[in-house]
Amino acid sequence: MTKIIAVLNLKGGVGKTTTTINLGKALSLQGKKVLLIDNDPQANLTYGLGVDLNEQNIYSVYKEETGFPIIESDENLHLVPSGLELATIESDIDKKINRYEILKGALKEVESEYDFILIDCPPSIGIFSINAIAASTHYLLPTQPAQFGLIGLEEIIKLINNQVKRLLNPNIEPLGILITMFQNTNATEVGYEEIKNKYDTLLFDAVIRYTTKFREAEIVREDIFSHAPQSGAAKEYMSLAKEVLKKA
Ligand SMILES: Nc1ncnc2c1ncn2[C@@H]1O[C@H](COP(=O)(O)OP(=O)(O)OP(=O)(O)O)[C@@H](O)[C@H]1O
Ligand SMILES: [Mg+2]
Repeated sequence: MTKIIAVLNLKGGVGKTTTTINLGKALSLQGKKVLLIDNDPQANLTYGLGVDLNEQNIYSVYKEETGFPIIESDENLHLVPSGLELATIESDIDKKINRYEILKGALKEVESEYDFILIDCPPSIGIFSINAIAASTHYLLPTQPAQFGLIGLEEIIKLINNQVKRLLNPNIEPLGILITMFQNTNATEVGYEEIKNKYDTLLFDAVIRYTTKFREAEIVREDIFSHAPQSGAAKEYMSLAKEVLKKA
């Protein structure tokens, strides 16, 4: 069975896109066939993997319900790009009867070709995130270990449990909460303890530490395994991939 994982958090800048790219790449290095979907009008994932923003992109899927335009980033790592024009069509999508199930419809055509499909989402609960949640078997929540980070997590878990499960996707399950940008400071450690106390069983053992390597990789538009294969950062995302393989 294909695992379809929505990467979510209401809060911006917590490492959703970085996690989608590098967990996806790590799974592909483990021999899995992986599709990454850039489901965010910011198109950071598309840009981050060095793909031209003028390519055919997910806009046509939402607008005209075409199949996915798929780019082969690597043999085992494929990508559905996004584009900035996606930001202009939310109100058009809102008028469609099947507005929350457009992504799910397009996925049906391709999902059997992949072991893992990772969907990068914007930092909001709008039409794009809800499409991702409706289409997914699992969701993964990256969060910074800060107390204010908990708010975004709680809101998204509540939404999924109270509404999405009942109305759109009764089978979706949490895959886990991933701590990103961990630093050995007092504030981080306090935030980490709080998340651990609240969500113990959901926390991944793998923790992603803060390092400028991610910004560097972003600037040269590469994943961390291409940019810094020997780094701690690459090892941490590989540990996460191994945990995901055990769990999923
Ligand atoms: N572990 C890390 N250590 C240091 N910097 C990181 C780490 N992970 C990601 N970053 C950097 O932090 C910034 C935000 O990360 P990212 O774009 O992945 O967050 P996001 O949750 O997808 O943001 P948005 O909500 O805007 O989509 C980026 O510049 C990224 O390179
Ligand atoms: Mg992002």
